[in-house]
Amino acid sequence: MRVLVLHGPNLNLLGRREPEIYGTETLAELNDAVVAAGSDLGVEVRCEQHNSEGEIIDALHRAPQECAGIVVNPGAYAHYSYAIADAIAAIGIPVVEVHLSNVAGREPFRRTSVTAVACRGVVSGFGAHGYVLALRALREILPS
Ligand code: DQA
Repeated sequence: MRVLVLHGPNLNLLGRREPEIYGTETLAELNDAVVAAGSDLGVEVRCEQHNSEGEIIDALHRAPQECAGIVVNPGAYAHYSYAIADAIAAIGIPVVEVHLSNVAGREPFRRTSVTAVACRGVVSGFGAHGYVLALRALREILPS
């Protein structure tokens, strides 16, 4: 089973971006840990990161050709991108939204996710471990 882990804008700066909120682990370190956890679960993980909305949408459109499910952290696009929400709804494979921080406990604008509406579920507030929880959820709901 193959799963795309798709990171949105500013997540390339992990490790030095507001470490008190997002931690000190770099995106490369996070990806390595998620790939290793995936392999323990029997899930082949491919990771991508894009800063622009269009590139994220293109990655979502491509994914069903080779992946059974997607774990996406849309970053701030979660709070206002109806275009990404529409792309998630259009592709017909399960998508789990992940946020490193607990967006429900932060500024009011972060408490809404328009992309989560189109997702199968959301994991928020568990740091990098949230990606592993999302992989586990996909492993449960996808046919083996
Ligand atoms: C984030 C939360 C978003 O509100 C923020 O814009 C991000 C990161 C998270 O992983 O906690 O870029 O998605």
